[in-house]
This record gives sequence, C-alpha cells and structure tokens, in this order.
Amino acid sequence: MTAAKLPAEFKRQVNAAIAQYPAEHKRSAALPLLHLWQEHFGFVTDEGIKWIAEKLELQPINILELVSFYPMLRQKGTGKTHVRVCRTLSCAMAGAYRLMENLCATAGIARGHDGIHDPVLVSPDANFSIEFVECLASCGTAPVCMVNDDLHENVDPNAAADLLRLRLPVAPKPGEGGSTINHQPPSPHPLERRLIFKNIGRKDWTTDIDCYLRDGGYRQLKKAVTMSRVDILNEVKTSALRGRGGAGFPTGVKWSFIKADEKKPVYLICNADESEPGTFKDRYIIHQDPHQLLEGILISCYALNAHTA
Ligand code: FES
Repeated sequence: MTAAKLPAEFKRQVNAAIAQYPAEHKRSAALPLLHLWQEHFGFVTDEGIKWIAEKLELQPINILELVSFYPMLRQKGTGKTHVRVCRTLSCAMAGAYRLMENLCATAGIARGHDGIHDPVLVSPDANFSIEFVECLASCGTAPVCMVNDDLHENVDPNAAADLLRLRLPVAPKPGEGGSTINHQPPSPHPLERRLIFKNIGRKDWTTDIDCYLRDGGYRQLKKAVTMSRVDILNEVKTSALRGRGGAGFPTGVKWSFIKADEKKPVYLICNADESEPGTFKDRYIIHQDPHQLLEGILISCYALNAHTA
C-alpha cells in the first residue's frame, strides 16, 4: 500500500500521535504508530515497518526491533478470536505448553513438530488463531493468556474449550473491567517473611489513608525530612536495597549518580512495568497498598531533590 492509498483518517491519527512529542523526539511516537497500524490493518507488514520508519526518520530496523520485542505487536494476520499464551518461565512451569496443546486441539489447529516457533497459528475456518508470547506481566498468577484483549489468569490448562467459548464479549460488571483478573495474591509460604507485601492480603487492611496512618504509615516520611539527603542516601546504600526490574541494580548507588548540586530538574518516575519474569509485584502494591508506594515516592523525591514524580 503506497502512502497515497493510506486512509485519510489513519494519516490524521498518525500525525496527531507524532504531534504529542517534541519534534526532536518524534521517534518516541514509534509504539503509538505501530499500534495504530495494527488497529487499522490487523498486523504490522514489512511495508508498515518501512513507512513508519520513514515517517519518524529512522531505519526500518529501529521499528522491526520493537515489533519483534513486544508481544502485543504481530507480523501475521489472526483469526476472529486471537489467543496469546504466555510461555515465559512462570507460565511454562504452570502448564502453558499443555494449554497450547489443548487450545490447538479444540480450535482444530494442527501444530507441526516445530509449531512452537510459528508466530501465529490460524484455524482452517479462520475463527481462531493462537500464538505463544513472552511474559504478559502477570507471572504471579500463571498460567496466563489473553483472549483478544481480555487477560485470563490462573488458567486451567484443561479448560481450553471454555476459553474459546468466550467469543462474545461479556459486559463487565461495574468496577470489574473486562478480564478475569484475580486481585488476591496467594497466602505467604510458611517460610516466607513479607516486607513490602506485609499488608497485602490482610483481612483488616484497606487502602484508605486512615488505615495506613493507624498502622504507622508516613512515619518514615516524617523521619526522612528531619535527615540530610546524604544520610538518607547512605541508609539506602547500607540497606542493600536493589531494583527488582531484572538487573537488581543497587538503589543507593543509582541515586548517588545524581549530583547533590544538580542544576537540571530531577524527575522521579515510578516504573511499574512488569514485563520480566519474576518481577511481578507492582500491581498488588498499587492496588492494595497505594500509600506505601506514595510514601516511598515522597521519600525518594526528598532524597533526590526531585520536584516532579
Ligand atoms: S511468565 Fe507468564 S506472565 Fe510472566
């Protein structure tokens, strides 16, 4: 499809997405543009990759690496109901491969010997398609899959037929969203001593500030603002606190990269991305102990002289 043949509405949306970013950072629009392309045309073609790259003054490889990294993007057409089965570690151990076998058998999809490497398998009647994807960011509730845009957690690998019967959208009840998300984490293991998760799942625990204050909440913030920034930094270093996004980088060391007399504005970003196996914990904190997160953000901002989070 040449640029001239692209629908005018699509081009309007593309230009609006690019306009969201400063001109010198327009490459940041790459993901929104890929999603727009997929929404309009069903999947991202080689032509789409080239077109987006040209639009953003990038090389096609810069776009291709995004398409091949993010499981939400695909390079092949799908059936009417598209199922993504996570096969990363937690889900693989919890039955993802059995689930895939059962889904294929139920949908009438024949998988070849190396079928696990096929990006998208489509049933002969084109009603269903199935693919393996990497982490869907819900490792604590494995196995996980998505039926179209609905996330399903704690899936019974033998319940493939039930999953595929969810072809008609069921109107979610108020506050429930459109998925089968289970908001309750499992109880602690007898040998587990929870720190950050200490309030999660507690029967007497609510998310309001009064409950948090009754339990000693914001006491650490009060203490922090009486300390010097250097003392806070040293305490964080001594605690050996590490990031849990995968690299496990020491937090205090990372903080020390910001100069005490930094003239440029310092921004604090709460990175709640959970797309690496074993890093699943942020959603529970946000949903069930939000004030712990806010207190941590406030202390971090104070220690780093950040005025925007
Ligand atoms: S490993 Fe499957 S959701 Fe993360």
